[in-house]
Amino acid sequence: MDVVRIQGGRELSGTVTISGAKNASLPMLAATLLTRETCTLRNVPDLSDVRFMVEILRHHGATVENPAPGVWQVTAREIQPRTPYELVRKMRASICLVGALVGRLRTADIALPGGCVIGPRPIDLHLKGLARLGCEVSHKNGCVIVDAAKARGGYVFMGGRHGSTVTGTVNLLMAAVLTPGVTRIDSAACEPEIENLCQMLRTMGARIDGAGSPVLTVTGVTQLHGCEHTVLPDRIEAGTYLLAGAITGGDVTVNGAVTEHLGAFLDKLDEAGVAVEHTGAKAIRVRGNRGHWRPVDIITLPHPGFATDLQAQFSALLALIPGISLITERIYPNRFMHVPELQRMGADIAIEGATAIVKGGAPLTGAPVMASDLRASAALILAGLAASGETWVQRIYHLDRGYEQFDKRLASLNAGIERLPASAMPKDYREE
Ligand code: EPZ
Repeated sequence: MDVVRIQGGRELSGTVTISGAKNASLPMLAATLLTRETCTLRNVPDLSDVRFMVEILRHHGATVENPAPGVWQVTAREIQPRTPYELVRKMRASICLVGALVGRLRTADIALPGGCVIGPRPIDLHLKGLARLGCEVSHKNGCVIVDAAKARGGYVFMGGRHGSTVTGTVNLLMAAVLTPGVTRIDSAACEPEIENLCQMLRTMGARIDGAGSPVLTVTGVTQLHGCEHTVLPDRIEAGTYLLAGAITGGDVTVNGAVTEHLGAFLDKLDEAGVAVEHTGAKAIRVRGNRGHWRPVDIITLPHPGFATDLQAQFSALLALIPGISLITERIYPNRFMHVPELQRMGADIAIEGATAIVKGGAPLTGAPVMASDLRASAALILAGLAASGETWVQRIYHLDRGYEQFDKRLASLNAGIERLPASAMPKDYREE
């Protein structure tokens, strides 16, 4: 296992180009099962989650090739409907295979994903939606079995107590595109990744109206054909690098991001006093502007609200901003696993239910810290970049799930960061 060592206190400067979006790539890879013909996806990021999804597609019987960096070709001529627990438990996003299997085979048999450190990850809304289409949904030995032989288009309401569901919307879309009749998905997720998936499904011959809106209307067709499609840029990766520039008081330009996908985030960055500039069609520049920093209040919401996937990273910046900032998690109320580790670096943060009360302003000092999940690991690295002294971040396999060459790209921005084997850590820092 590797670790990351950071010599903090250096101002980041330079330009970084954003990769394709993890949370668009995974549903798109699943969507290739909807046709017997070859689908080619471009701008797919080189992430462990992507490689794992490829392993699952092969398990289902698809032929998957990687003819060039970022390019994946999938041909699912004959596939089988079962996704075993040993695969699902390693990556809960594999749940988005349900829709593709139901769409293509009219049946799915997948292990229930269970939870993860950011909270319970239920799929009740997914299953309720499939049942509304006339699917028979049953549970057995920790698996859910869906029989869509009698499924017909219908009205589905996807809203839950935390708003809509992204992968739930993905599943209903992929089930509906090959289900006879018209399906109306109300309170659908509006994340840009959903819109990008709708574009891919349309190039495959699907009939979908309302992409990007909370109401999707799908008219079922009898079959879909292959396609070539490009994955949109990763807005969460973009936001993370913008925060790296801000937190170090540096001057960083992020290339390739879609500004409109970061509206709420950029608004909060501006409100916090960071200098944000749009220097081109897809270029955003931040300058730390430390003397202008102000505390802000953040509430995470479904898109176009503030993205929960940028909450941990933003809290590292707020820990440095003098004053009281509040962060309220409306999507995953327990998504504060990064806080105890930030506290070890000197952050003054108290958790009250789903709200983090940040008493910002104290300087951060480097420390050995432990990553708990994907976005928490990014938050700890950002804190290490801003802290004085040396920070070691362990369990960075979490990071590899969602950031391509994060250490190398930060180093190209003048960060004092390197990836090392765990054996390089001082003995008393190492996990037993
Ligand atoms: C997607 O997860 C993303 N993952 C997550 O990104 C992201 O945090 C999340 O959407 C919210 O934006 C992928 O796209 C692969 P949800 P998803 O279903 O679809 C509740 C990252 O860091 N809910 O939109 O699993 C649920 O408990 C990852 O890249 C139900 O109650 O999230 C949560 O509180 C982490 N019942 C909220 O809704 C359901 O049936 C949003 O969940 C489904 C969800």
